Amino acid sequence: MEQIVADNINKYYGMPSENSRRSYERLQVLAGVSFRVEKNDFVSILGPSGCGKSTLLRLLAGLDRDYEGSIHVDGTDLKEKRVPVCYMLQKDHLMPWRTLMENVLLPAEIEGADLKKEAEIIRPMLKEFGLEEFENYRPHALSGGMRQRAALLRTYRMRGDIMLLDEPFGALDEITRMQMQDWLLDVWGRHRKTVLFVTHNIDEAVLLSDRVLVMSSRPGSIVKDIRIGFPRPRNRDMLLSSQFLSYKGDILASLG
Ligand SMILES: Nc1ncnc2c1ncn2[C@@H]1O[C@H](COP(=O)(O)OP(=O)(O)O)[C@@H](O)[C@H]1O
Ligand SMILES: [Mg+2]
Repeated sequence: MEQIVADNINKYYGMPSENSRRSYERLQVLAGVSFRVEKNDFVSILGPSGCGKSTLLRLLAGLDRDYEGSIHVDGTDLKEKRVPVCYMLQKDHLMPWRTLMENVLLPAEIEGADLKKEAEIIRPMLKEFGLEEFENYRPHALSGGMRQRAALLRTYRMRGDIMLLDEPFGALDEITRMQMQDWLLDVWGRHRKTVLFVTHNIDEAVLLSDRVLVMSSRPGSIVKDIRIGFPRPRNRDMLLSSQFLSYKGDILASLG
């Protein structure tokens, strides 16, 4: 089933003009972006820095309705009604004064949900997220990978069937990043949601995704939509295959 239908999106930001303080210039960030995403697919959005990936995610999260074109989620037009989604910014945004559990409970707290009940759901998940025994730690006492997993767990517990992840592993060192990719594949395999995963790392996009949408530089448009045919479960050896090199070649060619 098609869950997300984005049709011909143009997005501009108003910028103060260099010539006159009273006039505004329009900076076009997205140009004619159209794509569809099937329910429970893992789709990466890959593109150069500044091409509009974070902007596109904000639109999909329903946080900005100032664009041309339309986005439908489960048939609902996002300009008319918000649809709850799980949205994670590039920075982990954990609150330093809260413990890990208190941070993960935040979305439930904002919604006024029963926190005792929610904690009982979260507690067994801590093990899966590699956070067992760290429930009462504050973010500064956790490693970079753990903070990122805590942020992912918090995102996962938000209301909604769609996860929007904005370069979740961008700030991690290479080895931690690989561990996090393996872990995400495993967890996503068991708790499926539709994932839109923004990255500028080609290997990561191919390893994780069912599809890779390649964006041009600003104004961003989708220049290639590549289906990744590797079977699941995925493993790192796939990165050494000739099929992988062929995907990578395709992506590099479309990045120009
Ligand atoms: N609120 C804003 N106002 C004006 N320009 C913005 C705003 N947010 C982003 N931009 C500009 O839009 C372009 C795309 O930004 P962004 O979506 O963050 O790109 P990416 O995530 O692909 O790096 C950049 O040139 C950026 O400077
Ligand atoms: Mg960005």
